[in-house]
Amino acid sequence: MEHIIGYPVEAERNLEKDIASLHPFSVFNSQTSRPMETAVIVAMGRDRAIGRDGDMPWHIPADLKRFKALTMGHPVIMGRRTWLSLPKGALPGRRNIVVTTDGGFRPEGAETASSPEEALALCAGDPMPFVIGGGRIYKAMLPFATRLYLTLVDAEFHDADTWFPEFSQTEWVPTGEEMPPEGEAGGLRYRFVNLRRR
Ligand SMILES: NC(=O)c1ccc[n+]([C@@H]2O[C@H](COP(=O)([O-])OP(=O)(O)OC[C@H]3O[C@@H](n4cnc5c(N)ncnc54)[C@H](OP(=O)(O)O)[C@@H]3O)[C@@H](O)[C@H]2O)c1
Repeated sequence: MEHIIGYPVEAERNLEKDIASLHPFSVFNSQTSRPMETAVIVAMGRDRAIGRDGDMPWHIPADLKRFKALTMGHPVIMGRRTWLSLPKGALPGRRNIVVTTDGGFRPEGAETASSPEEALALCAGDPMPFVIGGGRIYKAMLPFATRLYLTLVDAEFHDADTWFPEFSQTEWVPTGEEMPPEGEAGGLRYRFVNLRRR
């Protein structure tokens, strides 16, 4: 790193890597051809539960409606298990991208990516792809996220088997965009919270 001015190509690449690790969210687009904004959208319980037996532990119609409105027109990135949980296959009106290590997997109506990084590279031209789960993909891709669209379900789900990863709330600030912020379905209270990375 001593030869910053007039450095050779390899050193320049290393410098870029160093900058990217310091400011990953401000340089993705120009330096790595990843999208400038990446959103994570998730519904979770107070205990960060998100899944049970390959499905969601609740049915909240307003959450599904919000999910559709927010993601429509954007690429959606998901893990193979979440893909398999979609009742009608590919989500219409959106590029469906399934992350899998199985190079022979051919999901109908969807593209595949062999890693989170490859999935983001496929979305480089989009203003904001959405990561839609599940647990393993959230964990792998939360570090890339600049936006979090949360549905916070006010209950604990002791029989859950999948959880959203822990995240530091101090790294995120509310955008104040969500209207209406609260509701109730099937005896479960929930609220919507939109956050952006500080
Ligand atoms: N509450 C919510 O908002 C919400 C949203 C979505 C899903 N869910 C729930 O979450 C559960 C599913 O989550 P899950 O954690 O079991 O599965 P998942 O994250 O949907 O999918 C896991 C699969 O994705 C692939 N994968 C994951 N990380 C990868 C990586 N770094 N590189 C390459 N491939 C990778 C692997 O596929 P291969 O095995 O093919 O390699 C892995 O088996 C379900 O219960 C679902 O209903 C909840």
